Order: sequence, then structure tokens, then C-alpha cells
Amino acid sequence: MKINTGFIFFFGAMGGLLFGFDTGIISGASPLIEKSTDLGGLGLNEWQTGFIVSAVLIGSAIGALSVGSLSDKFGRKPLLIIAAVLFIVGALFCAIAPNFLLLVLARIILGLAVGGASALTPAYLAELAPAAKRGSLGTLFQLMITLGILLAYVGNLGFLGHNIAGIQDWRWMLGCALIPAVVLFLGSLLLPESPRFLIANGKAEQGKAVLNHLRANTGENVAAELADIEATASQPKGGVAELLKIASPAVIVAVGIMFLQQLVGINSVIYFLPQVFIKGFGFAEDQAIWISIGIGIVNFAVTTTAIFIMDKFDRKKLFTFGSIVMALSLGILTLLNFTVPVEQAAVPTIILIAVYIFGFALTWGPMAWVLIGEIFPLSVRGVGASIGSAANWIGNFIVSQFFLILLAAFGNNVGGPFGIFAIFSVLSIFFVKYLVPETRGKSLEEIESELRAHTAKQPEGYGST
Ligand code: BGC
Repeated sequence: MKINTGFIFFFGAMGGLLFGFDTGIISGASPLIEKSTDLGGLGLNEWQTGFIVSAVLIGSAIGALSVGSLSDKFGRKPLLIIAAVLFIVGALFCAIAPNFLLLVLARIILGLAVGGASALTPAYLAELAPAAKRGSLGTLFQLMITLGILLAYVGNLGFLGHNIAGIQDWRWMLGCALIPAVVLFLGSLLLPESPRFLIANGKAEQGKAVLNHLRANTGENVAAELADIEATASQPKGGVAELLKIASPAVIVAVGIMFLQQLVGINSVIYFLPQVFIKGFGFAEDQAIWISIGIGIVNFAVTTTAIFIMDKFDRKKLFTFGSIVMALSLGILTLLNFTVPVEQAAVPTIILIAVYIFGFALTWGPMAWVLIGEIFPLSVRGVGASIGSAANWIGNFIVSQFFLILLAAFGNNVGGPFGIFAIFSVLSIFFVKYLVPETRGKSLEEIESELRAHTAKQPEGYGST
């Protein structure tokens, strides 16, 4: 069956929507779960609530790590289908969990799916996309993430206080992820396997057919692309040992970029913004939720713009631009909050956070994921993307665990934690300058041969291209 290429990229990226939704929904649901008497007790303590929030992150790190070598062995598609099934099971169990432990288990299952999807999708999209559009098509994943986050914020607001059919509001919030999960499952059944995976695994004819279909009417030179893929497909099969042997500079880049993407503090805003405004500036809860929705809209809208510019500017330039915008906005925010009385700092803080989100959403948000899909050689791409993705989840876990503690340590002055994030934004400029290779416009096979040449000869820095 010939499937529309728009459909393929849409469903190929759709795991991002569940990623965004399942991580974003908890910002509104967790205070309700804490107070809920519906879990076989008189509510939860802070420690238990924190665990429900972080269970997804722990599950994601595990899911991301486990999926890589499996996808190099069995293909990208079967694992995307398994992730979709886990999304369904996790959402359903969250909605019906009778007690704390089963709710944690359900959130861990969701995490396995989120982590799996986050390791699979960037590589899958990169392997389907033509070189000249790989950045933009890879950005679809981040667009889906930001859409998922926005839908979660809207869901939080929509269900808050409405115990429809006698079922508590937070159960509706978590359970409504079931709908996109079922849609993703049905869509993923129709997706093609990655042509590069097929060619590398003795299914050259099928791989060629998929590639011909994807490149039909695009004016691309399919024969040349196929020849390049066939040349790289003959390399020995992967695994972690092979990854470290042939691609350790790429592992350093992936892990570094992913840690930094989290250590610039994005999820202190995405998960905790209402708390920042309630604790830091004394806002009422509903006002704070509306600020979140505003930030969610900026995040989504700017990511839409990112799609259009992604393949027009070098990746390294965009990363650097984003780092500078984030460093400046967070730096000014820090100074302001340490020098001006709280009442006067609130509005400029909202504006500076919006500028910071602009810097992140245009660059580091999408590009970190694009990069881990494209910098690894074909034979170890799955396992490489897995390690990069797991680094992202571990970084996310660290920031999420320590943010509220840091905020309290600075006497609820947001300048404290945000000042630390500003320092990481500055460090990220140097990481990109010295370690990250330029990949825009190059085919995956060109990127691979540059890396292999580098590991064979060890010339000057990998990132000096
Ligand atoms: C990050 C997430 C973050 C999201 C915000 C993603 O690229 O990996 O942790 O919540 O962007 O839009």
C-alpha cells in the first residue's frame, strides 16, 4: 500500500506528542494527586508526590537505554509499535490505578514508552528524510513535543475541578492520553520500516522501494543516495563495543548536548512555572496556570518557526545563537531578581522567561534531538541515539529533583536557580564551538565517513569542521 509521505512523517514524529503530554500533564495533576483520597489513603506526602512526578523520568531513562540495540537488531518500526502499546497501557493504568504503588508503576510504564519513543524517533526521521530537509523534518518531533505540552496545559485547565461521571479530575487528565496513544498505535501499524535499516539487513529490494516512494516527485537523486547507503550498510553490525570503537567522539557530543539541553533549565519552566509564580511572586493558582499556557503557546509557535529556518542556517550557528539568547535572558533575570523588589520584578520576569523560551524553542529544543538522530553511523545509530536520549532523561531528572530545593535554598528567589542555568547556557557556547561537528546539508553517509576518518586518524577536534 502506498502511503502519503506527509502521513509517514506525521505519524513518524507523533511519539513526541505523547512525550510532551505525559511529561507536561503532571504539572497540573500532581497537586491534585497529592490531595486525593482516591488512592486508598488520606492523600500523599510530598515525597510520594515527587516520586509520581519523577517515575516517568526514571522509566524514560530505562526505556531510552533498552530500545537502542533492539532497534538496531529488529528495526525501528516494531519498536515504535511496542512504544505505542506501552503508551496505551500506561495511560489506562494511570486512569484506574487504585493505589500509590500501582500509580507509580503505571507512570514508569509510560516512561518506558516516552523514553523508547525519544530514542527511536530522531533516528527514524533522520533515516527517512532527504539530506537537505533533515533538520526541518527532524524538528517535527520537537513540534509534536511542544504541542503535547500545550495540550497537557489546556487539559489541566479544562479538567480542573470537574469530576466528570464521579471520576476525579486528575484521573481524566492522565487518562485522556489514551486517545492520542490509540491513534499513534493505529498510525504506526501503517508506517514503513526505515529504508536504511532494510538495506543494512538483507532487505535491499524493500528498502529501495521505500526510498523510491519517499523521494517520488522530490527531484532527488535516488540512485546516488542508494549507492551511498549500500556502501555504509556493509559495515560490521553494531552494539555498544562497536559504538565506542568507531563513534566515541559522537557519543561525547550526544551526551554533552543532551545534558546541556536539560541543564540550561528548560523544565524548571515547563514543569514548575506555576509554582515559581506562586512561591516566588505570590500569584494566585489560576493566574499562574494562565502564565503557563502563555509560555506553552510561545514554545509551540516558536518551534513552528524553527521548522522553516532549520536547514537554512548551520546547526552550530543556531546552537550558539540559542545559547546567547538563553544566557542573556537568564543573566538579566538573575540580576533583576537580586536587585529589584519582588512586586516590580514579576512582569519583567515573565517577559524574560518568554525570551528564554524563544531562544530554546528555536534552537536547542529541536536541534538536540535532530543531532542525535544524525551523528551516529548506521550500524550503531540505534544504540547511539539511545545513549544520547538517556542522557537527556538523566539530566531532566536531576534538574526536576533539585529545582524546588534550590528555589527554597535561595529563599524562593528565582534568580538563584536561574543564575545557575545561565552559567550552563554560557558553557554550552564553548561545548558547541569546540566539540560539535557541522551536519547541515550533509547526507547521513557523509557524516558517517567524516566521523570514521576522524576516529581513524585523530586529526584536530571533531567539532572543528
Ligand atoms: C526537551 C524536554 C522539554 C521540551 C520543552 C524538549 O526538547 O527534551 O525536556 O520539556 O523540549 O519544549
